[in-house]
Amino acid sequence: MKILITGGAGYIGSHTIIEILENTDWEVISVDNYANSSEATYKRIKEITNKQFQYYNVDLKDVEATKKVFEANPDISGIIHFAAFKAVPESVAKPLTYYDNNINSLINILSCQKEFNVPNLIFSSSCSVYGNVNELPVTEETLLEKAESPYAYTKQIGERIVDDFIIVNNNYKAISLRYFNPVGAHKSGLNGELPLTTPNNLVPYITQTAIGKLKQLTIFGGDYPTADGTCIRDYIHVSDIASAHVLALQKLIENKDFQNHNIINLGTGKGVSVLEAVKAFEKVSGKKLNYVIGKRREGDVQAIYANNQKAQQLLGWKPIYNIEDMMLSAWKWEQNLQNNL
Ligand code: UD1
Repeated sequence: MKILITGGAGYIGSHTIIEILENTDWEVISVDNYANSSEATYKRIKEITNKQFQYYNVDLKDVEATKKVFEANPDISGIIHFAAFKAVPESVAKPLTYYDNNINSLINILSCQKEFNVPNLIFSSSCSVYGNVNELPVTEETLLEKAESPYAYTKQIGERIVDDFIIVNNNYKAISLRYFNPVGAHKSGLNGELPLTTPNNLVPYITQTAIGKLKQLTIFGGDYPTADGTCIRDYIHVSDIASAHVLALQKLIENKDFQNHNIINLGTGKGVSVLEAVKAFEKVSGKKLNYVIGKRREGDVQAIYANNQKAQQLLGWKPIYNIEDMMLSAWKWEQNLQNNL
């Protein structure tokens, strides 16, 4: 069975390819344009899994180039659509770039899904679709508030586009997975997040500060109405996120108990503050982190964490890593990057 992974050289995409190659007999075809990733990641996936797969350098905004991948592989059974821009502050600064990339890529993928009759789709969504909610934890039934950033809005619109597409093409099935905050690295330490420029996300910022690539971490806001004044997030190990994709696609293929478009939260269910995340890093690495508390960052929500019952019940999924495992694996990866790559 052939599975198309868009954004397969990216952070979550590459960990999902590893999970697929290690646990299934599916054939992987990856598409990426390396806008925020590197082709070298494929080499690392091959080293870890000792398996081969096809890959294409294609920008999914280019519908003709995208079609060619489907023409060359007319028997694809499922698509996992990761490819998107994902930095909240960058999306605030460059809204049109985010709308253009994230929305047009999705439309082109869905057009090809229809034209080439691919029955199953997994769409990468995000907890950012919830906005600033009044009640925590959020379930999939929680009403979506205003998107706090263009990035978040591309995911709200993306889910809606998938919804509308599936309604009129009800021989297809889709799952949107709402990721909370994916962090950490493969347990081998050989694959992890690879920011091409200064990272926006907390964990690579922490590890790069600890190793000396960056001078100091600024914690964005210490005056939020939370226990320690910093924002709360639901950090989830990227390998737990990856395993959920395999389970979700298996469920779609088996076609049991699924509505045409299902939405599922992927989080641990535990809220962790920025300061707690920093402390967890300091504990597992044995290093004192240089940080200051600064101003709030635009586009940030105050607190969010998941109710993950639906993922547990429908997918039989349970995250296995805790915040210390996440930090330790991210730290191992950062050290490996410095030493070997
Ligand atoms: C957001 C989305 C998430 C998405 C991710 C992709 C929300 C609620 N979540 O995560 O769904 O997958 O983008 O990038 O919008 N922080 C600092 N200093 C830093 C960097 C971050 O204090 O240098 C803080 C942020 O203010 C935030 C937390 O760390 O409170 C996590 O930030 P980050 O890793 O950037 O992810 P989110 O913006 O929460």
